[in-house]
Amino acid sequence: MFIATLGRQPEISFAELEAVFGRQNVQPATPDIATIDADDIDLSILGGTTKIAKVITTHNYANKRDSDLFTDISRQITNHYTDKWRSVDHKITLGISTYGFNIPPRAVQKTGIILKSSLRKSGVSLRLIPNTESALSTAVSHNNKLGLSDNKVELIIVKTKTSVIIAESRGAQNITAYTRRDHGKPKRDAFVGMLPPKLAQIMLNLALGSKNDTPGLILDPFCGTGTVLQEALLRQFDVIGTDLSDKMVSYTQENLNWITKSHKHTGQIIEISQADATNNQWSNAQQISAVVCETYLGQPFSAPPSPAKLKEVTGNCNHIISGFLKNIHPQLTPGTRLCIAVPAWRSKDGSLTHLPLTRDPSRLGFDLVRPPMIYSRPDQVVARELLVLVVK
Ligand SMILES: C[S@@+](CC[C@H](N)C(=O)[O-])C[C@H]1O[C@@H](n2cnc3c(N)ncnc32)[C@H](O)[C@@H]1O
Repeated sequence: MFIATLGRQPEISFAELEAVFGRQNVQPATPDIATIDADDIDLSILGGTTKIAKVITTHNYANKRDSDLFTDISRQITNHYTDKWRSVDHKITLGISTYGFNIPPRAVQKTGIILKSSLRKSGVSLRLIPNTESALSTAVSHNNKLGLSDNKVELIIVKTKTSVIIAESRGAQNITAYTRRDHGKPKRDAFVGMLPPKLAQIMLNLALGSKNDTPGLILDPFCGTGTVLQEALLRQFDVIGTDLSDKMVSYTQENLNWITKSHKHTGQIIEISQADATNNQWSNAQQISAVVCETYLGQPFSAPPSPAKLKEVTGNCNHIISGFLKNIHPQLTPGTRLCIAVPAWRSKDGSLTHLPLTRDPSRLGFDLVRPPMIYSRPDQVVARELLVLVVK
């Protein structure tokens, strides 16, 4: 059994885990943490999970104040790990993160300090990562390589409604690798907007579901700078990308050449070409495992548009995206899944205007695999709505 700490939008991270591991194997432990019944987990394929940890033990607890409960747990931890590490012959780096407890960071830190002094008596040296928060940030865990070897340990202690889970980290999200893939690529374009690589991974997983590690072919018909295709190649999928804009086609080509030179992958670039998604015939459409794309999102807005402008942009995007769905539907094998990001616009009061097509995709020949999800930052006017569809 594993636990996953979920990213900034936990409901999307949770949906990704359900897609990859099966609904029956993923349960919520707290709003930000899920338990996963799996033999092994490769964190590098999960865009929405920030840390993975292997469950060591679970304690049920009766009504107790958090501070008393944590004191009990802390004692168990110091006893267990003093015993476990008293004869190791290397220095240990230790971080401790708690979730769901109402206790100050210094209470968490104290557990580490007691363990450190208890191990010192046996001649074992322990470097303790300071807790400025009750839980170490992903960046701190990643930078200290916690969970990646026997001598770099992060204990993750989670209080759920009924139990306390103690788990040992198996690593934190590789922020360095994501930044390199996002900011290191030769061609970027702020105007069309670029998908964060983490979101591209989430969308691939939502579309592929349990087939996420079966080799296959991914199509992005609105490929832009090629983020989805780049992530698909790194997952060893073959890729096809098309875009209306010649400039974007050349950007994708250049970025994919870069990823091929800078990263190992066995995925093949089958075709990158200029095409209008509303009328193109993709030559390998019957072989496509999944369609994953961020569609046309309309123009960027830094403030909510006027009602007339909103009506115009909504109508325009709805026309293009419905046209694309109608066009691709007869080309795909029934059962093929798509994960598409479409725009939704936030007004001043926080409410969202959705594309009309999201109300009833069955009219276009698709069923929704799960309810749509909104991906956005609170101050963003153009949010992305994630639709997971299956060809009827
Ligand atoms: C939001 S961007 C995609 C960005 C991409 N996900 C990335 O990471 O760079 C949408 C893309 O759709 C393209 N586009 C707009 N209308 C299109 C159409 N009818 N057919 C194909 N591509 C279209 C634009 O040129 C743009 O590159």
